[in-house]
Amino acid sequence: MLSGKHILLIVGGGIAAYKALDLIRRLRERGAEVTPVLTRAGGEFVTPLSVSALAGRKVFSDLWDLTDEAEMGHIQLSRAADLVVVAPCTADLMAKMAGGHADDLASTLLMATDKRVLIAPAMNVRMWEHPATRRNLATLTGDGVLAVGPNAGDMACGEFGPGRMAEPLEIVAAIDAALDGGPLAGRHVLVTSGPTHEPIDPVRYIANRSSGAQGTALARALADLGARVTFVTGPASVPPPQGVDVVAVESAAEMLAAVEGALPADAAVFAAAVADWRVAGASAQKIKKGAGGLPRLELAENPDILATVAQRTEGRPRLVVGFAAETETVVAHATAKRARKGCDWIVANDVSPGTGIMGGAENAVTLITADGAEDWPRASKAEVAARLAARIAEALG
Ligand code: C5P
Repeated sequence: MLSGKHILLIVGGGIAAYKALDLIRRLRERGAEVTPVLTRAGGEFVTPLSVSALAGRKVFSDLWDLTDEAEMGHIQLSRAADLVVVAPCTADLMAKMAGGHADDLASTLLMATDKRVLIAPAMNVRMWEHPATRRNLATLTGDGVLAVGPNAGDMACGEFGPGRMAEPLEIVAAIDAALDGGPLAGRHVLVTSGPTHEPIDPVRYIANRSSGAQGTALARALADLGARVTFVTGPASVPPPQGVDVVAVESAAEMLAAVEGALPADAAVFAAAVADWRVAGASAQKIKKGAGGLPRLELAENPDILATVAQRTEGRPRLVVGFAAETETVVAHATAKRARKGCDWIVANDVSPGTGIMGGAENAVTLITADGAEDWPRASKAEVAARLAARIAEALG
């Protein structure tokens, strides 16, 4: 399964670095190409010579090596791979990744890559259990970084507990799963997310308070299950996830064009908070205060992107899912919306100010399908996304 796949392997500075040598061997046996990067600390545990001999190619270690920058810049190096693997991933590397540092080649590559990242943490058990490492792991998984291990067992430092790097074959299995696996492998899923901005003139717009958090979490969860995700996003306040094709748009009209351009898809999920109205005949020049009195904004109705796609007679995705943000009689409104728009499912939520859902970290949804309404317990947006992604995978079969 790994034949022809290109792995960028970052070897961090831990005693488990010796296992990275075996990992390189196992990957190459399976037909993968491995481009090794050795951190300064990693170089204290294994030599560049053994790493490059096993990888069959040059080992990169220095950001300031101008020859490398001339031949292959760090941006290109970070993107030429199918997957970036960090093994061993030390507590320090995890902290750097979670904090967005870029002060050496490894951390810069991890910041610059547009590919998925898999870490194999390895550290002393106390370091693994330290609240700072817990926080960093939560940040990293929230960012879509995959992790394998650590395992529990005797450690080189004489202590016992979780902290040992996963074995090379476990890492190979995780790499396999990250590259090809998952129930949505081979499926294309389209996700809309975020608010839209409807121009009044070149500097002003009408917007809404959507953060894009739920759509972003969903796109990430779908990609985690192996889907190819096209993520059509309005100007959201959270960054898009890694490992998806991002199409950034501003207005509802642009969003509709991007959605139609991204079809065909096996499933489409419309999590965006699309403005219902735009300003009719937005001004090409900045509107001036002045003699004419107050400007009058005339509104025009925006296209309903969800309904347009759900009602396509040709090329309709097999599963079309809409969202319904309501503030009262949620299920009744959402059930009617499902019928009116012609979509298969509606994910309904109560966004009354007291719920803290709009712009918050949690969500409590009701899934409305042809079979009725299902209440899901309140959970983080990431958990709701994972559950919805699993249901989508089940539905696509
Ligand atoms: O009608 P309402 O805006 O409540 O419907 C919400 C659902 O419809 C969401 O899935 C949203 O993404 C989608 N929608 C759309 N285009 C619009 C308005 C809403 O795709 N113009």
